[in-house]
Amino acid sequence: MTQPDRYAVFGHPIEHSQSPRIHALFAAQTGQDLIYTAEDVPPDRFESCVRAFFDGGGRGLNCTIPLKEMAWLLADNRSARAKRARAVNTLLLRGDGSIFGDNTDGIGLLRDLRDNLGLNLAGTKILILGAGGATRGILAPLLAERPDRLVIANRTVATAETLTVEFGDLGPVEGCGFAALAGRRFDLIINATAASLSGELPPLPADILAPGGSCYDLAYAAEPTPFVRWGQEKQAVVSADGIGMLVEQAAEAFLLWRGVRPQTRPVIETLEAERRTAK
Ligand code: ATR
Repeated sequence: MTQPDRYAVFGHPIEHSQSPRIHALFAAQTGQDLIYTAEDVPPDRFESCVRAFFDGGGRGLNCTIPLKEMAWLLADNRSARAKRARAVNTLLLRGDGSIFGDNTDGIGLLRDLRDNLGLNLAGTKILILGAGGATRGILAPLLAERPDRLVIANRTVATAETLTVEFGDLGPVEGCGFAALAGRRFDLIINATAASLSGELPPLPADILAPGGSCYDLAYAAEPTPFVRWGQEKQAVVSADGIGMLVEQAAEAFLLWRGVRPQTRPVIETLEAERRTAK
């Protein structure tokens, strides 16, 4: 009897990852025989764990915080979108033994914003909070939607300014500190800081969300994040966390690995229902 193909997500910490659940639902839906596990892998053991996983017959990996830049470095070849992001969340072992790196985060966010939540980004003013690896992964696909302006606000202003230089050829992008946001209004505010994970909120002017605007937190948790709650208080039309993006980026990884695209909507609905009953 043949063994099921093996996949995993590496991260640190990893215990709250929903990825094994998502890929199990995808596998059941598409009739694919595979095993997907979550492994706690600290950065100093990342390379040896990747090599051991693939040497031991593993077929593909997801890499999450704080391993995406290391995964980018480790890959032998990279997709165009991974090259742009300088971060990799999906690794695939190719038939010739080489490791291919892709980044499915940006397309995952876009699918959730556009297809699942019904937001049209063309001509809008977008604000991204934070200028780390998560922001890097989503800039190119957001700019491809042709917003009127995309502002990156970060605690460390220089990091935001570096990104504007790197991505300025793709559209009207601007970097600043949080203090420079006073008096400005945005149609979509995306929280890409690590602040949510520690229960904090970046300092935001009270009237920064335009009427009819929306909020999106790249992080997700069992309870609404502080930023999702902030958006609800500001009457955001949509104030969502990143569970939809997580499912969408996973679907794109599944497609790369298995050549089949699973349906995401029923999986998002299942996870939402599980969150409600876990309360
Ligand atoms: P990731 O890969 O998740 O983006 P990262 O590269 O460590 O993680 O980036 C974390 C981002 O969250 C950075 O923009 C960081 O701001 P700095 O560049 O100034 O460090 C931001 N961040 C982390 N904690 C924050 C907090 N308490 N308030 C505001 N921003 C915070």
